[in-house]
Amino acid sequence: ATTLRAAADAIGKDIGVAVDVNKLQNNAQYRNTIATEFNSLTAENAMKWDATEPQDGNYTFSQADTLVNFAEDNGQSVHGHTFVWHAQTPSWVQGLNATAMRTAMVDHINTVANRYEGRVDSWDVVNEVVSDNNGAMRDSFWLRTMGEGFITTAFQTARAADPNADLYINDYSIEGDNAKSDTIYRIAQGLKSQNILDGVGFQSHLILGQVPSTMEANLQRFVDLGLKVRITELDIRLNTPADANELAQQAEDYRRVTEICAELADCSGITVWGLRDNDSWVPGTFPGTGAALLFFEDYAKKPAYTAVLNALGGG
Ligand code: G3I
Repeated sequence: ATTLRAAADAIGKDIGVAVDVNKLQNNAQYRNTIATEFNSLTAENAMKWDATEPQDGNYTFSQADTLVNFAEDNGQSVHGHTFVWHAQTPSWVQGLNATAMRTAMVDHINTVANRYEGRVDSWDVVNEVVSDNNGAMRDSFWLRTMGEGFITTAFQTARAADPNADLYINDYSIEGDNAKSDTIYRIAQGLKSQNILDGVGFQSHLILGQVPSTMEANLQRFVDLGLKVRITELDIRLNTPADANELAQQAEDYRRVTEICAELADCSGITVWGLRDNDSWVPGTFPGTGAALLFFEDYAKKPAYTAVLNALGGG
């Protein structure tokens, strides 16, 4: 296999990419590369609440539809992102009382999940519900208004809305064994025992040379609960500009993460969080860092691309 897509297909894994729908519509080389190299798509922004329901009951699906139609035309699966998050959620939701917020959540999940039933294969039902502080729950308007039960409500609603979709809980900095991943583990155990959770998404926004040494064992403990695992937002940032040594180390890091997923039967796949280095959210959020993805700005393949291809069994 000479593409990521062909190599991943051959071993039954998803190799996904976060897609900017505006570029998909306006940039032919972006479009062609996405179609050729990936068998799974995630909307980088187009399925979030602020994009799909900016006002109460006023749903706007044009960008999300464009992505799902593209995936269908190209035989790609879709991993949906995301129903319930503390960010990119309109202020009209954030100000509701508990009863009204629950109603809004249920309506939102039902409407979006029903629209894409049978076309979106899996969903990040809740995103980033654990804080970075000793594994405490994140202090969000969801938690403050509805209490911890907001998570169960979201999963129960999603399960009923699309019983065939795989439902994931998704977070960052849970790749290794740590206080935050311990909390995700406890939440996952509870949801799994109610049969409303199918998998855990490990975002994997990593830093050069810092793939956690406990990553494989940590993913395994979730698999041992009967869950799938998935690398949902992979990028590996470094201090820019990158030199050859850094690009080689980055390739090594990408290889390691890909091997971990390839060797775990219950790892459904890997999604990289953007196509080219210049498509990434990283430089805007962490100035002076970047070069985090698999393709250079001119679509040339980086050493990390070859490492992922090889780790998927291609080359
Ligand atoms: O939609 C407006 C547009 O109208 C305006 O012209 C433009 C000007 O800056 O901004 C546009 O919104 C931006 C949006 O991306 C779409 O491009 C927002 O300002 C910007 O904040 C937003 O950033 C996204 C970020 O989530 C928001 O939290 C990134 O693209 C996206 O990569 C990032 O993705 C998150 C995952 O969803 C969850 N995990 C972490 C990951 C990285 O932060």
